[in-house]
Amino acid sequence: MCGIFGYVGPRQAEPILIEGLRRLEYRGYDSAGIATLSDSKLFIRKKAGRVQELARHLADDPILGSLGISHTRWATHGGATDTNAHPHLGPSSHGDIAVVHNGVIENYSALKRDLQNEGIKFLSETDTEVIAHLLARQNDPDLLAALRRIIPMLKGTYGMAAVSPRHGERIIAARLGSPLVIGVGEGEHFLASDPSALIGHTSKIVYLKDHQVCVITADDFHIYDASHSRVSFSVQNIDWKSTDTDKGEFPHYMLKEIHEQSESVANAMRGRLDHENATAVFGGLNLDPRQLRKAERIILTACGTSYHAGIVGEYLFEEFARIPVEVEYASEFRYRNPPIDQDTIVIAITQSGETADTLAALRESKRKGHRSLAICNVVGSSIAREADGGVYLHAGPEVGVASTKAFTSQVVVLAMLALFLGRMRNLSSLQGAKMIEDLQALPEIIKKTLRCNDAVRQLAEKYQQTSNMLFMGRQYMYPVALEGALKLKEISYIHAEGYPAAEMKHGPIALVDKQTPSIFLTPRGSVFDKVMSNLEEVKARGGPVIAIASEGDARAADHVASRADEVIFVPDVPEYLQPIVTVIPLQLFAYHAALLRGCDVDKPRNLAKSVTVE
Ligand code: G6P
Repeated sequence: MCGIFGYVGPRQAEPILIEGLRRLEYRGYDSAGIATLSDSKLFIRKKAGRVQELARHLADDPILGSLGISHTRWATHGGATDTNAHPHLGPSSHGDIAVVHNGVIENYSALKRDLQNEGIKFLSETDTEVIAHLLARQNDPDLLAALRRIIPMLKGTYGMAAVSPRHGERIIAARLGSPLVIGVGEGEHFLASDPSALIGHTSKIVYLKDHQVCVITADDFHIYDASHSRVSFSVQNIDWKSTDTDKGEFPHYMLKEIHEQSESVANAMRGRLDHENATAVFGGLNLDPRQLRKAERIILTACGTSYHAGIVGEYLFEEFARIPVEVEYASEFRYRNPPIDQDTIVIAITQSGETADTLAALRESKRKGHRSLAICNVVGSSIAREADGGVYLHAGPEVGVASTKAFTSQVVVLAMLALFLGRMRNLSSLQGAKMIEDLQALPEIIKKTLRCNDAVRQLAEKYQQTSNMLFMGRQYMYPVALEGALKLKEISYIHAEGYPAAEMKHGPIALVDKQTPSIFLTPRGSVFDKVMSNLEEVKARGGPVIAIASEGDARAADHVASRADEVIFVPDVPEYLQPIVTVIPLQLFAYHAALLRGCDVDKPRNLAKSVTVE
């Protein structure tokens, strides 16, 4: 949520900063701004709207300087206006100070009141502006010293950067709860809130840790801890190919990422299926077999799409590993105080590894002494680093705000974990070998599933004008119904609800009429007949019905086709893998509906890719 990019080196900063902001725009995109230093003068440009607006503004009114900081915003305090855009300024007799900030300063109103009582005038409604004024009020030409003095006054979270003409050619930055990395170049350095923004500039990065501050110049950088001591650090290599963040032949990241699922699922499985022992292997769980065998309960905690993957995980773990599982919204789990016994393993599921609520839930669980793992996509992210162990998705960067490939990779990792835990308990080697065979077939099956694209587009054409839609499924299809509804509402703004199909009778059926289509997930399986009865109940009340059904079973296919108004067929797979093939037409439906309605698919209104505020 919000992005920071900084540069200091021999080149003109402005184009580098704008390019960096474009890469970060998926984190927030309601306004953007840039500050550069040139000839001991500070230049600032900021604009409400997309980075493109700022770039246009800069084309009319360019700024010079080979050092600068920039920001793309997702509003928390104050609307999306030019004035509320970052950087914010702290005027000082030692030279103005420009500040960009991600996170939330929770005590900003008390700080603001105190500063206003001293006669300081605020221009914006943001919490960030207090940081700029607090820094300026220190009246210290040494910006690092000023920053160290104000940090204890701030309550909340920050990844922030500041520059000032009096402080020379350097950027200072600090982190608490909101990620920052330093990109190490040749005679130049970068600062970014997300390593993927550095692709193309450098593959060498240094993660800043909470409570650390740093000073970055073109030739060098130093990192200090909370007690002001210089600390050593390790430089890590990013292994993402730069093409990973291009759209390639696709018009949108979301469509590209939907089509990448065959490959991303294969990457999630690479090297993790052990044929000889008919199980899965994971390098980074950091749990010994005794601890794993002793596990009496698993808590899966996550937000958004990752939470829906967690519900699939609940069904998988219970079916194959026979371990009781609870799935908790991270935002609830972090503040609850549920009785949890010692042999509980907590697993945080997250694409970004930076979701504030998921990070807090993980920390809370560690504080209570539980083994706390993460299933995460972004290597080196806060959650990946703080977890006791975990599994990376290796799905490559997911840029579209609506999560797609992360979901299918999460489900595959959860299925492999269920296999691994099951094989330690009650699963026979034959059952294990069968699961491996099922999993290995997935990449090809996903390719076949994607052939439904044209049929789904036609459906979207037919139903794009609808205002409400229902998604129904049972068992493994229940979380898919939730995910289908979430996809549709987040990018097309059509109101949608996902429900366990039988629960429909307890309320949502009141919404059914000729204008309210329902998507029923009716693949082959143990509850097929039950779901068909629910489908009939909707039909009987005049609601249009679309079914997602399995290929291959002629009787079932005829049955569905004779009841539903439209049917999309997906390849037949074992029930526990059906979430992967059935979610794909729902992802495509949301995509096409959003496109037809003229929505910005990759950057839906009010949303952000990485939610780093509570
Ligand atoms: C945001 C994104 C969603 C994502 C959720 C959880 O809301 O827009 O796509 O599912 O955060 O993010 P995480 O990175 O923790 O999976």
